Amino acid sequence: MRRSTITILLGLTLGAITAPALAQGKLTLYCSSDEAWCQQAKREFEKKTGISVDLTRKSSGETYAQVKAEASNPKGDIWWGGTGDPHLQAAEEGLTDAYVSPSRNQLHDWANRQAVASKVRTVGIYSGALGFGYNEELLKKQNLPVPACWKDLIKPVYKGKIQVANPNSSGTSYTMLATLVQMLGEKEAFDYMKALHANINQYTKSGSAPIKAAGAGETVIGIVFAHDSVAVAEAGFPIKTVVPCEGTGYEIGSMSIIKGARNLENAKKFYEFALTAEFQNMAKDVKSFQVMSNKAAKSSPKAPDLAKIKLIDYDFVKYGSAAERRRLLKKWDDEIGALAR
Ligand code: F6P
Repeated sequence: MRRSTITILLGLTLGAITAPALAQGKLTLYCSSDEAWCQQAKREFEKKTGISVDLTRKSSGETYAQVKAEASNPKGDIWWGGTGDPHLQAAEEGLTDAYVSPSRNQLHDWANRQAVASKVRTVGIYSGALGFGYNEELLKKQNLPVPACWKDLIKPVYKGKIQVANPNSSGTSYTMLATLVQMLGEKEAFDYMKALHANINQYTKSGSAPIKAAGAGETVIGIVFAHDSVAVAEAGFPIKTVVPCEGTGYEIGSMSIIKGARNLENAKKFYEFALTAEFQNMAKDVKSFQVMSNKAAKSSPKAPDLAKIKLIDYDFVKYGSAAERRRLLKKWDDEIGALAR
């Protein structure tokens, strides 16, 4: 047999061997949940469907910016996780696609409210309250008082002791910004953030980084979602979680199909998979302690109980609107971010 014929035959044989795997196709997943949960989603979805997942993990605001930048040539298929506000902004700007899930009746009302607010371009997948955490050992060693309220965090005694993310990249930090505006009024909220700035040692990119840093002893306090603080404590670090005494805001973590998705059918398969109680029940195995959106999913007993937390009536429609989110972030850049330079 001539060499070229052998090459062709070999090619055909290899093609036949790899065909079933290829036939399942692929999915490009943009993930804004915790890295370990993103990896679990990839692993479990691949196991269940044979679809190969190309995963990118970035914070909520960063993923929104990427989806927007790629709008004329979309590379991602589905955006799973991250705070709801930038998902709502993406929906309003037509960056994501309408999809009515056959599983919607299995979801809590708060999850479906995201769908209604976005003309079914996004949906709630989990929820969690904003709070902060502190390193108990460092606090004691430095003779610092135990912080319990938002108003404590601006006391001079905590100068340089607190970390929080930048609200442009981080949905956690944007949730804090919008929460303070709703709780205090806009002027007072910006005055508060200016006072808080004196105590901030670093504005991180990712929302959960401050509490990981507190676990590692690099900062005393991290302003984060309470479930992220619980996760670091559960990993064995001396972290205590605080829900601010005045009350607090919360997120509805969301999921959206990206407009122009190259693998649309696989994106829908992932969407349905991510809404199942079976998958949502696995979150606690990777220390993701949010409250899940499927009514049949059981939240971990370690998950902060939202029913026991004084939550504000967070206006997701207003603070997820493109104009308001853009305006508040610009104001933060001008009045707070500028102080950091
Ligand atoms: O770490 C998990 C988590 O806090 C989610 O609950 C939330 O949606 C997301 O991270 C926010 O991350 P970031 O603030 O980095 O956008």
